[in-house]
Amino acid sequence: MKIDILTIFPEMFDGFLTTSIIKRAINQEKVQIKIHDIRKYSKDPHRKVDDYGYGGGKGMVLMPQPIFDAVDDLKDESSKVILMTPQGRPYKQSSAYTLAKEKHIIIICGHYEGFDERIRTLADMEISIGDYVLTGGELPSMVITDSIVRLLDGVIEEDSHKNDSFNNGLLDYPVYTKPVEFRGMKVPEVLLSGHHANIKKYRQQMSLEKTQDRRPDLLERDE
Ligand code: ADE
Repeated sequence: MKIDILTIFPEMFDGFLTTSIIKRAINQEKVQIKIHDIRKYSKDPHRKVDDYGYGGGKGMVLMPQPIFDAVDDLKDESSKVILMTPQGRPYKQSSAYTLAKEKHIIIICGHYEGFDERIRTLADMEISIGDYVLTGGELPSMVITDSIVRLLDGVIEEDSHKNDSFNNGLLDYPVYTKPVEFRGMKVPEVLLSGHHANIKKYRQQMSLEKTQDRRPDLLERDE
């Protein structure tokens, strides 16, 4: 899979691309992630990418030209163009599974007070990572990239994401490691028993109870 990210703050991605599972996935060529500085596509002599909005109002608005040129340059028949915006469709684990099947994703990060409305016409989909407003689309683009890359074949053990929260519509069951007792808190006996059928039953029950307690809305949904 190839992921191209368009941003005016490329340096924000340095840690993201050079750490942990994302770094390993890149090194093992499971994914190719390229960060593109939108300024490089600006035709303005000062590499300007934003300007005042028509009709007044505060803040600067990202101009269409650099972003249209960048998408023209990067896009082919297989590309899906995603615009990060709080006005987009709410992102879910199911969205990550759908996007993990794509060959090429181009992500546009909005910034400042907004972006020229015409930029929306470039996007196949608009995604929001939640009902709150961040200073730009950079963190949201990392959030969705991370959630997609961990699902690609061979990036993490399949078993680890088969049991993820949300996968079966339920939250994940609790897990424990050494020691068996810590500050008076004990690992549940059944996990030490080696009895696989009982462990499975216990985990299903805990998943259900956790979901009922914390996210009853998930149990009411039929999607
Ligand atoms: N840009 C700013 N806030 C955002 C959000 N919540 N989701 C996606 N993009 C954003």
